[in-house]
Order: sequence, then structure tokens, then C-alpha cells
Amino acid sequence: MCGIIGYVGSAERDAPDAIDVLLEGLSELEYRGYDSAGVALANGTLDVHKAEGELEALTSSLSTESLRDPAVGIGHTRWSTHGPPTDENAHPHTDAEGRVAVVHNGIIENYQTLRDELAADGVTFESQTDTEVVPHLIARSLESGDGDDGDERYDSADHKRAFRRAIDRLEGSYAIAAVFEGEETVYATRKDSPLVLGIDDSDGGAVATDGSDAVAATDGDGSTGYFLASDVPAFIEYTDRVVYLEDEEFVRLDATGWTVSDSDGVPLEKPVQTVDWDAEDTGKSGYDHYMLKEIHEQPSSLRQCLRGRVNELQGTVTLEELDALVDREFASPVRFVACGTSYHAARYGASLLQRRGTPATATIASEFTTDRVPVADGSLVVGITQSGETADTLRALREAQTAGATTLAVTNTVGSSAARAADHALYIRAGPEIGVAATKTFASQQLSVSLLSAALTDRASHEEVQSLRRVPDQVQTVLDTSNARAIAAELVGAGAFFFIGRGLNYPVALEGALKFKEITYEHAEGFAAGELKHGPLALVTEDTPVFAIVTGDGEVARKTISNIKEVEARDAPVVVVTDGVSDVERYADYVLEIPETDERAAAVLANVQLQLIAYWVAHEMGRSIDKPRNLAKSVTVE
Ligand code: M6R
Repeated sequence: MCGIIGYVGSAERDAPDAIDVLLEGLSELEYRGYDSAGVALANGTLDVHKAEGELEALTSSLSTESLRDPAVGIGHTRWSTHGPPTDENAHPHTDAEGRVAVVHNGIIENYQTLRDELAADGVTFESQTDTEVVPHLIARSLESGDGDDGDERYDSADHKRAFRRAIDRLEGSYAIAAVFEGEETVYATRKDSPLVLGIDDSDGGAVATDGSDAVAATDGDGSTGYFLASDVPAFIEYTDRVVYLEDEEFVRLDATGWTVSDSDGVPLEKPVQTVDWDAEDTGKSGYDHYMLKEIHEQPSSLRQCLRGRVNELQGTVTLEELDALVDREFASPVRFVACGTSYHAARYGASLLQRRGTPATATIASEFTTDRVPVADGSLVVGITQSGETADTLRALREAQTAGATTLAVTNTVGSSAARAADHALYIRAGPEIGVAATKTFASQQLSVSLLSAALTDRASHEEVQSLRRVPDQVQTVLDTSNARAIAAELVGAGAFFFIGRGLNYPVALEGALKFKEITYEHAEGFAAGELKHGPLALVTEDTPVFAIVTGDGEVARKTISNIKEVEARDAPVVVVTDGVSDVERYADYVLEIPETDERAAAVLANVQLQLIAYWVAHEMGRSIDKPRNLAKSVTVE
């Protein structure tokens, strides 16, 4: 989805050039997915540059020497929703006179009404975007002084009020930033789209504003200034001190400080938090792709996930942040909601709870709201979202809350919208994930819901806790010994790829197929192994490799082996992911081994092999692995 960056250099020192900060920030936001980019620089006049395509197209169109002076600007990477990716549709958008430039992430749902209204007033639109109504609304407010409804709050010279007035007219979701001709200030606000402030001043205190218009002033000890972005990596190189904005809060940044106020203009005190990442966490560390780096980070991110939460000696699981939740009785069933990869973690979590005798369901978040799934008063609804910003999941959580449910966000992102919207948050502690394809966050979601299911049911055997503890080392073993690259090379070029599993391995099959299609662009499907014979078997030929996950040697393994025989009889190449306990290897053309463990942990290990298969097939095919076509990391529209 779109990415926003804003920057105001500190008044107290030789701050970096805005153009450099904006371009670096946009490059850090590339992972969100985009198809055009642009910047607006404010230095008395407004200087707007934008280009369709990769950031490179924008950079090479700029004569940066002529842009060296301005210390204030906004930038944007656009992921098309209204109108194709063209120079005209790229942000920033301006009014006809070029007095204000605006960038936006989200969807303005009433844009057609506003567009018709503005067009009737004589406004000519340059783009097909929903966003362009915003600069025109701001311009109209500036022109009309106290406003066409006679509201005296507004003054023609007051950019801040004109900005607020325009925002008042919007319905939908937005993070919006604006700069004006004749003023070196950035104005911004958000509703259902992420926006975070980065503070690099010399104040250093826990709370940096008293709400006046010029606070948190610098004292000149080397601060760079104030940042605004859709996500922290955009400015982490400069500062790890952040302020998370809530819906309908307004922020104003200038060289002397920052202020946040509510929708009525009342100044707010906002805590400054420190994020525990540094710039290196968001680099590639020598790997060709973020995805491969993140796959290899799993042993360490899983250790972080478990740290302080499991006690092997006592065989207990403790989730301190959920103390107030775990001893409560909830109306049945526990409902998980999520999208994409996180939905697969939700299915896995629901299965774990069911195995402990607690009724649980997993529903795709957009279907949850569309179907108006009845939520019992007093039930527990768990939203799983690595970004914490997925619009569908946020809506499901909010609707559940309105219906009287207690909500829990299982997320990777401290301070995210989901973490703040839900009654409780469980952090998966995976660290920043830049590759669009979710990898380490899925593994950490699997472990987190394992911990959650034990904590909610107050039951975890010694063996279970031990096997959870062993997962990080066993993932390392898979990474050290995997032959996925060689198998991938053999399978490239096949017509389609199927993934099958039963029980806890069914969500892993779904996830294996999603990862595969997402980055290889090849047709891949995941099935419950027992479902093949009810239809999909018609597609199976010698040109459709089937990946089957078989762990343990119980009934589930035996039945999956029967399903493997069904595809083998149709000459499909069979790749088994197995711990070797069931002797399934003899039915396989290729084997991806995982260490022996219990069935819950095996589902985490098996997935790592499938991540590697997807990666190496995509690599072999020369795909854009970290930024697959048409996809965005953080999906902030419904
Ligand atoms: O941030 P979330 O976990 O809520 O994201 C949900 C999906 O958009 C996400 O998992 C998506 O399916 C991944 N890109 C898949 O790799």
C-alpha cells in the first residue's frame, strides 16, 4: 500500500537536505508495494516532482542540486486504487494554483461526491485519483476565508484551519500530509491508516509537547529534526524515538518542534516511545533478498518470541501482558480473524485450541464482516495481523468490540492500530519484516498462538513446553541442511503446484501454496489432503508436483499417505516434507526432511522447508522476490 514520508529539518543545526531524507525514506517504504512515487519540497515556493514506476524513475528525473536548499518536504509511494499508475495519478497532488501539495494513503469513500461538487465550482482535475479532491478542498477553504457555511473558525491565511476544514469533509480511510506555499511546515492527520512521528530533537524527554504551537524546541546538540511516515523504517536511520498518532489526531511539524491536537483542535500530550530496532535490522545483511534474510532470522526471532514466556522446569507458559485475560471465562467459541498468511496462523491457532477441547473458529476477516458473523457478548475475538494495520482485520476487531466481545490483537507491531484498537495485545516479537511475503512473522505467529492456546486453557505438558523450546534450534537445523534449492531447480517449469496436509499441517499446506504463488507467479493451490479426491484430483497429472506434509506416524500420517498414493497413481511428482517417522519416503520422488518433534512444532518446521522451496523456485525464475507484482506489505484498504 502507499507509503508516506514527511520531514522538517531542525532549526538548530545543519540538518540533512529534505530531498535526501525523503528519497531514503521512500526507498525504505518500497516494501509496502507501489507503482509510482513523488515528492513535494517547500521553501517559500512548492516544488513537486513525480514519476510512474520504480523510485529510480523519480530519482533520475530530479536535478537534486537545484533541490538542495529546502529543509521541508513530503514524499509518497503510490499503490494504485483509483486510476492506473501514471505520472498524473502519482502523488503529491496540488490545487490549481499550486498553493498546497498533498500525499495520501487510504481510500476517500465520498470522493465522487466531493469531486462532483468541486467540478460544479469550476475545478478541473488533473488525475483520476480520489486524493486530488483534498488539495482542491483546502484551496477552496483558503479562498473562502471563513468558509462557505460561515464557520468563523476558518481564516483565509490559516493553512492549519484550511487543512482541518478539508479533512472534516472526508469519509473513508486516510493518512494525509500536506505542505503549503510560503510556509515551511508539514500538516498531517490519519484515520484508519498508519502514521507515526519520528523525533530527533535534543529534548529527549518522555513526553515532548505541551500542546502549544512551538514546543519541544531544540537546543542545538546535533538533532536532525522531525519525521512523519507510514512506518518506522522510513526514518529509523535518524531516530528511534516515535510518537504513534491515533485516528483523527492532527500533527503540525516545523523547524522548532511538533504539536499534536485532537479533531477539535485541543492540544494533546503524547508520549514519546523508543522502538527497539536499529537501521541494521532493516538492511539485507548480505543476503540477496530480504525474504531470504528473514527466513534465516527465524531461529533468533523465535527465541525472542519465547523469551521469558516458557518455563521448561515447571512446564508452564506465562504471557504477562495477558494476565488480565487468561483467567477469564469467555463465551464459546473463541473466534480468530485474519487475512492471508495471518489467516493461516489463525487456522493453526483455532486447531490448537480445539485439540485442547476449547471450541474455536478461524474466519477470513473480510468475510467475517461481510457475513456479519454473530459475536456473542462476552466472547473472545483474536485478530492476527503482523503489521497491525490490515484494514479488514481492524474492522473485524472493531465490530466485534462493538458487539460486546473482548478483543486481542496478536501482532508484530508495537503501537500499531490493531494493538491500540484491541483490548489486549500479544506481541510476536519477530522484528521488522520487509519482504512482502510473510515468513518469519508466520513462524512467530505459530509459536505465539501455541503459547496463547496453552495460556488460555491453562494446560501445557512438560513435553509440549520442551518441544516449543526446541523449535528455534530445529529451525536452524532445517536451514543448515535443507536441499530445497536442488529440488526447486528440478521442479521449475511444471504446470501447477499443489500442497496437501491434514490437521495442523493443513494451514501449512495453504501457507506453502500462498507463498509459492505470491513470489513465483505460478499456479499453486493448497488443499486439505482428504479433499483431493472430491475434485482437485482432476487436475493432477505428471506435470503437477504435489508437496505433501506428513509428520508423525499416527492416523493422520497414514491417511495422508493414502492421499499421496492417489496422486502417485496419476504420475504426479511427489515431494514429501517429513520427519521420517512414517516411512513415507518410499512413496516420494523428493524428500524435504525436518527433525522429529511433536505435531504442533512439526508444523512450524515443515513450513520453513516450503518457504525455501518458494524462494528458490522464484529465484530460479528471476522473479521480483521482495516486491512481488500487484502486492503490498501492509493492506490498509478493505
Ligand atoms: O499484516 P497482516 O498480517 O495483517 O497481513 C495480512 C496479509 O496481507 C499478509 O499476510 C499477506 O497475505 C502476506 N503478504 C503473505 O505473504
